[in-house]
Amino acid sequence: MTLIERPSGSEPQQRADPALGPPLVSARDLSKIYQIGDQRVVALDHVSLEIATGDFVAIMGPSGSGKSTMMNLIGALDVPTSGQLVLDGRDIGALSVDELADLRNRTIGFVFQQFNLLARTSALEQVMLPLLYAKPRPAESEAMARRRLEQVGLGNRMDHTPRQLSGGQQQRVAIARALVNNPKLILADEPTGALDSRTSEEIMQVFTDLNREGITIVVVTHEPEIALWAGRRITFRDGHIVDDIRQTPYVAGGGVATKVGSST
Ligand SMILES: Nc1ncnc2c1ncn2[C@@H]1O[C@H](COP(=O)(O)OP(=O)(O)O)[C@@H](O)[C@H]1O
Ligand SMILES: [Mg+2]
Repeated sequence: MTLIERPSGSEPQQRADPALGPPLVSARDLSKIYQIGDQRVVALDHVSLEIATGDFVAIMGPSGSGKSTMMNLIGALDVPTSGQLVLDGRDIGALSVDELADLRNRTIGFVFQQFNLLARTSALEQVMLPLLYAKPRPAESEAMARRRLEQVGLGNRMDHTPRQLSGGQQQRVAIARALVNNPKLILADEPTGALDSRTSEEIMQVFTDLNREGITIVVVTHEPEIALWAGRRITFRDGHIVDDIRQTPYVAGGGVATKVGSST
């Protein structure tokens, strides 16, 4: 494979897309070093990365290459050993713990491989949970949660508990929960890792629809077919970015997108 060299000083390719907005994530020289006993693990080694508002990014790379570490830093779930991270215009190194939690709750929705749902709780209640912190009135919380469940195609599963739902449906509940605070950014770490390929496609279609509504999406995956859905593909190896390309995203069924919940 040939890498196309850019003349020095020119804009990186990913900033050239006119459809994309201002930077939502701006990482400069991020390093993360774990020290366990006398063992030192360099999980991220001086990584710089910018993600524009409206982008749909797939992060790939072998196991242990630093993908989850990067996601945890972008999501302000963890702090870097060195380097700077600006999230939605705020330098997270300058924020207090409370300010950081607030920025995280208002800006980011997280989706994980293992859904992380409560076993005996209905879909509706799971999606209402993040609103406990935002504290809208109960009726309002319920309306917001219902709208998000409808948006992910679970309007008829509101009262079901996780074991009454398929894996794909459980992941949709998790996505609805991630959406309920109106995040600008969805961070999904291997969201299809526990799903079969057809269900995985359905989940990627949900992300595609959300991205068309303007939500920035970052998905970690080690499956090339999943990465095809994104408009940009970044590859990590040994704590470094080794490849960063734009691509035409895969569109299922000729691109018939269902427009939902577009009141904002
Ligand atoms: N909490 C931690 N403590 C110590 N080492 C860690 C921790 N989290 C990740 N690592 C190490 O950092 C490297 C990158 O891990 P990770 O970001 O989870 O990789 P990936 O998500 O690409 O599989 C690995 O070598 C891993 O063992
Ligand atoms: Mg990982």
